[in-house]
Amino acid sequence: MGKILAGKISDIPPGQMLKVESEGKEILVANDNGNYFAMDDTCTHQGASLSEGTLDGSTVTCPWHSSTWDCKNGKLIAFASELKDLASYTVIVESDNIYVEI
Ligand code: FES
Repeated sequence: MGKILAGKISDIPPGQMLKVESEGKEILVANDNGNYFAMDDTCTHQGASLSEGTLDGSTVTCPWHSSTWDCKNGKLIAFASELKDLASYTVIVESDNIYVEI
C-alpha cells in the first residue's frame, strides 16, 4: 500500500472531481463540500470514466448511461441492472495536498 499525491486542494474545488493515475489504477477524487473521497474511476458497466460525469453531493453520475455511484464508498446507488461496486480509497489531506492511499 502506498500514498499518491492527487493534487492540491485548489485543484479540486467543492462539487468537482478529477482523475489521477498511478500504478495502472485510474482513481476518481471528489470534493463533496470540503470532504474528499476517492474510488475507482472506471464504470463497471461499459468502462466510462466516471470523473467525466457529474457530481451532486456524494453522488457521481456516469456520463455514458447514467448509473449513479456513492463516491464515499464506491457502491452503486442505481442502475437498470446490477453492477459490481467500485473500490474506494482513503483520502488524506496534509497541508494543502490531497493524497490517496492505494
Ligand atoms: S458505462 Fe457507466 S453506466 Fe454504462
